[in-house]
Amino acid sequence: MILDGKAVAARLRAEMKQQVEQLKAQGITPGLAILLVGEDHASQVYIRNKRRACEELGIHSELHSLPEQTTQEELLEQVEALNRREDIHGILVQLPLPKQIDEMAVIRAVDPNKDVDAFHTVNVGRIMLGDYDFLPCTPAGILELIHESGISIQGKECVVVGRSNIVGKPMAMLLLHEHGTVTVCHSRTPNLAEITRRADILVVAMGKAKAITRDMVKPGAVVIDVGMNRDENGKLCGDVDFAGVLQIAGAITPVPGGVGPMTVTMLMRNTITAASRCCSQ
Ligand code: GUN
Repeated sequence: MILDGKAVAARLRAEMKQQVEQLKAQGITPGLAILLVGEDHASQVYIRNKRRACEELGIHSELHSLPEQTTQEELLEQVEALNRREDIHGILVQLPLPKQIDEMAVIRAVDPNKDVDAFHTVNVGRIMLGDYDFLPCTPAGILELIHESGISIQGKECVVVGRSNIVGKPMAMLLLHEHGTVTVCHSRTPNLAEITRRADILVVAMGKAKAITRDMVKPGAVVIDVGMNRDENGKLCGDVDFAGVLQIAGAITPVPGGVGPMTVTMLMRNTITAASRCCSQ
């Protein structure tokens, strides 16, 4: 089975569009502000996709594009100005940031109630406790895709490859909340294949093209590929060798069209949540 993230995302977005219409009927237009520092090409592509989704759903979006040499102080001022704006419910600082800027300081400056990436320590802590308003978009999208495909997590051996703050760590926590038995592997795990072969559900976020090959996957496993790489021919590919693993997996996400559209959809959900919450308080 191919897990079609694009189709599931389209279904969820149709529901969200109605939620936006209901909010608008109450006089609230959800608003998302995106801050981009510099001209990183991948970031520009991601932002274009995010803004397109906003437009499709009727969410107001605005891009604040700052030059590469922007100082931390200047960026913090922009964040604080957006924190104060009542018409902006979600703030997203696109990562990575240039070297002169301390990423953590910027994340800390975003109002936790507007933190639609769920990167702020308050939101990260709340996720750890299972008491949250926002989930980080990629893990949330993966969870939603698993649910929508009728796959149960309870009691399953779940292996997450990658331990980033954005994907690996929160993903492990969400699988744990859903009663999976979770193992987290990373670049210094010596016996990676031995562990991935145990997985009923394998989530791969390594950032290495086609690193997970057929011999590393248990027959029938659910394989979720978070990777976004270029192969030797310049073609978009994931961290999983799709053609090989497809023959043995029970279910697998393609790249593109798997996790990516779900991530953007969860950003929309967080923005709608932020808009609904801000105005019901
Ligand atoms: N850069 C890569 N992924 C992300 C993301 O999910 N959010 C932000 N803000 N920046 C990113």
